[in-house]
Amino acid sequence: MQDSDREEVAEFVERHWHSRLVISRGRSFYPHKERGFIERRQGMIVGLLTYRIDDDAMQLLTLNSTLEGHGIGSSLMLDAIERARKQKCKRIWLATTNDTLRAIGFYQRLGFRMVELNLGAVDEARKVKPQIPEVGERGVPIHDEIVMELLLEPYLERG
Ligand SMILES: CC(C)(COP(=O)(O)OP(=O)(O)OC[C@H]1O[C@@H](n2cnc3c(N)ncnc32)[C@H](O)[C@@H]1OP(=O)(O)O)[C@@H](O)C(=O)NCCC(=O)NCCS
Repeated sequence: MQDSDREEVAEFVERHWHSRLVISRGRSFYPHKERGFIERRQGMIVGLLTYRIDDDAMQLLTLNSTLEGHGIGSSLMLDAIERARKQKCKRIWLATTNDTLRAIGFYQRLGFRMVELNLGAVDEARKVKPQIPEVGERGVPIHDEIVMELLLEPYLERG
């Protein structure tokens, strides 16, 4: 993500997450101010992954694809995994909500494990961000946060 992308990224995040602000494990973030990977088709953003790196961990903040099932989400994740390895991160983690059924399967197929369940975390986050809907994907009520983690093998530079 370049500085020239940031306003467009902020609008994309707002469209998909009801605000420019996202809350993860009780902390607030503005993804357009962080780092990220963008996928475009005919100039329009069709995929966005945002992240930050703290110490040896990459935290994914948002992941969205507007053209599902065409490999965009996978390609963004592979970019993030490669970046994390190059930055010598030991793990990639994210907090998602209990309704993101498709994403939860998608992350597990990439090797992520569920490492934490924060009961009622979204109900708490809703006090800070009232735009968070009560009901999400496929009519699932949204209450809880699931933390998922991918442990990385040490990065081997190719000679
Ligand atoms: C999760 C998400 C990012 C996946 O994005 P995507 O672009 O559909 O991802 P891909 O196309 O790479 O892979 C998705 C599926 O399509 C399949 N696929 C991959 N390449 C494909 C291709 N060229 N043609 C058809 N299908 C393909 C994959 O096997 C995968 O199968 P699955 O749905 O059973 O996991 C997307 O569903 C999304 O934006 N969800 C809503 C937001 C959300 O929940 N984000 C995560 C919150 S933390």
